[in-house]
Amino acid sequence: MSKRPKDNTVGPWAKEKLDALGAYLNYYTRRLKNQGHWLKGTVFLDAFAGPGLSPVRTQEAPATKGGLFGDDAEAEKVQVEFLKGSPRVALDIANPFTSYIFIDMDPERAADLHALEVEYGASRRIIVVEADANAAIEAWVAGGVDWRHHRAVAFLDPFGMQVPWSTIEKLAATRAIEVIINFPLGMAIQRLLVRSGEIPEGWQMSLNTFFGSPDWRELAYEEKNDLFGGKVTKVHDSSARLLEWYRGRLRKAFGHVSTARLIRNTRGNPLYYLIWAGPHRAGLTGAEHILSKGERVRNSPA
Ligand SMILES: C[S@@+](CC[C@H](N)C(=O)[O-])C[C@H]1O[C@@H](n2cnc3c(N)ncnc32)[C@H](O)[C@@H]1O
Repeated sequence: MSKRPKDNTVGPWAKEKLDALGAYLNYYTRRLKNQGHWLKGTVFLDAFAGPGLSPVRTQEAPATKGGLFGDDAEAEKVQVEFLKGSPRVALDIANPFTSYIFIDMDPERAADLHALEVEYGASRRIIVVEADANAAIEAWVAGGVDWRHHRAVAFLDPFGMQVPWSTIEKLAATRAIEVIINFPLGMAIQRLLVRSGEIPEGWQMSLNTFFGSPDWRELAYEEKNDLFGGKVTKVHDSSARLLEWYRGRLRKAFGHVSTARLIRNTRGNPLYYLIWAGPHRAGLTGAEHILSKGERVRNSPA
């Protein structure tokens, strides 16, 4: 399930996400700068790269009352600010990566990404891939990169549940890639976990694929007995349980996982969590410093 704004705008909360991303990428490349000869290259892979620049939905103009056709159905959006998307955030850090891979399956967005190749010229090595992110990641990790001498950060920031657990496993298996993941608990997962527990089969399959296990059901629902027999109900803390379970699975796959940073929309509703996972404690130290700054679920990192 995914929710993509039709007008290509982003919500103001995207800034919090992108600031955290920029801070971590700066930390990462600074840390790896003087590693010596063993390190032959660093890669930033943006798997759901989006456009280079997005108008921010900053405020709503008041709806006009009583016009010829009645009240305006929708308030007009006023856009007064543009936000650099994740590709530009990564390209503009002080110590750049050796190369950048930007993936987006949308042809218009891929064209925007190609424009970055021209704009940044020889100063940055950019590869644009117009394809499904999961297929492109599979090809990349299997494609002959010498992971003993290369390090990478993969940013996985889709609109919904487009990153199956099988992709996470492939990235973790390299022991050389760190991930920063948008865990879409509010904006996608909870929408499928209906109160009654009667989840359509297609949605169940999506959840199984996303989590790589059917155990989400046991975490999100319980069976209670009343006068009329057993009844399935959703547990009140399903969000916290699913988040902790997913973090635990990331820790097992990568070795280390950060605190999850909650991103809310302007109405205060939880949208998603940003989570870092990777094979090295030094990465965790930086990620923890950055991701524990916002609102978060309190948990000990490992
Ligand atoms: C949330 S936006 C990315 C925003 C961007 N990371 C940023 O912060 O500036 C998600 C992007 O993923 C792309 N997308 C959606 N499904 C995809 C898939 N399966 N493979 C590759 N790109 C996909 C969409 O076209 C969209 O541009």
